[in-house]
Amino acid sequence: MTATSHKEWRALAPDGVDVRYFEECGSTNSLAAEAGAGGLKMPTWFVAGAQNAGRGRRGNAWSSAKGNLYCSYLIQPEAKISDLATLPYLVALAVRDTFIALGCNPDSVQCKWPNDVLVNGRKTSGILIESSAGPALKCDFAVIGIGLNLRHYPVDAKFPATSLMDEIDRSIEAAAAFKTLAHTLEHRLNSWDPKSVAKMIGEWRDCAWGMGLRREIRTSDESFFAMLEGLDDTGGLLLRLDDGSTKKLYAGEVFGPPRQH
Ligand code: BTN
Repeated sequence: MTATSHKEWRALAPDGVDVRYFEECGSTNSLAAEAGAGGLKMPTWFVAGAQNAGRGRRGNAWSSAKGNLYCSYLIQPEAKISDLATLPYLVALAVRDTFIALGCNPDSVQCKWPNDVLVNGRKTSGILIESSAGPALKCDFAVIGIGLNLRHYPVDAKFPATSLMDEIDRSIEAAAAFKTLAHTLEHRLNSWDPKSVAKMIGEWRDCAWGMGLRREIRTSDESFFAMLEGLDDTGGLLLRLDDGSTKKLYAGEVFGPPRQH
């Protein structure tokens, strides 16, 4: 399945959703945020064949060569900014649904806190959610940026990465992956109630990577090892530290087990 024009890409998205396609751009998240700040009110996907300034979480670059899917969904949720705290888990589940629909064995697709999706233990997608607040901290707009490694992945990534092609031995076109992703995400967003997330968080827990295991945690100011104990209903990662105490984390990254010497 290939698509080249805005019209062909729009036909892949659910009804009532617009799509703007670019062969190459800086960052689809930046394009979506500019459109949101400019007052665009229709839910709109920004999709690119390649990005030359792709952005990842925590200020990292996102390598964005042609062949993978790079897309950002601009939405205007009726919600407070604080209600968006659990949105990353919903988006990760939609990416997981997508990988399964594209041929991955469900048992091979796991969610790594906070919102990476792994196939066979390796990072296969990245999610970057950005939002803007209006008066009274009401959400003005949110941008859900998603990169799917369909064909390429960075070999020198901090957490081991892979591509769908390497894992399922099939080459998936960006248009086919986008069609599935746009529908699975829409389906999950339509049933999203930020005030009632227990079921969705439970689903995330059921496919979580590394739970019950000792892993490296990196935050903006420290790095330590701790046992991953679970996720609470506000999206906090529950940790058991080596001294037996507990800690809840809302920002940071999780890496592999300690190196064996
Ligand atoms: C991560 O660091 O894991 C998040 C990566 C998010 C990458 C996607 S690709 C589409 C969108 N545009 C960007 O510049 N970033 C996101």
